[in-house]
Amino acid sequence: MTSESPTGILRKEHEIVLKLLDNLEKCLEKSDMKSSGRNITVLEGEFSKHSLNKEEKALFPEIEKFMPREGGPTGMMIMEHEDLVNSIKNCKDAVKTGNIERLNENGSHIIELLRQHIGKEDNILFMMAEMHLDGKQKKAVLEKFKKFDKK
Ligand SMILES: [Fe+2]
Repeated sequence: MTSESPTGILRKEHEIVLKLLDNLEKCLEKSDMKSSGRNITVLEGEFSKHSLNKEEKALFPEIEKFMPREGGPTGMMIMEHEDLVNSIKNCKDAVKTGNIERLNENGSHIIELLRQHIGKEDNILFMMAEMHLDGKQKKAVLEKFKKFDKK
């Protein structure tokens, strides 16, 4: 699909992540550690490909050509990504050690933060990108996306 835009692809991936969060929420409500653990592992893979690679290494650098990272929205999103990476790690540790309290605490944090985070990206950051990125920039981002999808 050549007409697909980088933000269109990322918005669709957000829908997948939101479904994973709904699943995780249900697993936590049932105190189902095993399923929660499986869910966290899938989420970790999605998050790494989507947020840490496609956003941070492909889209954000193009946005930062017209908006500085420092004190700007990409800087804020990157800080939230770091928080999420940390919380995912904590969840995995909690599953390994059978610490249900720690799993609940970190899992709930991920669910709340990541839902808000996706809302901010969809409604603010991606709108800015759609207004400002030119065709050449979009093409460069899409090329990088292809590489990350192959990994
Ligand atoms: Fe995202």
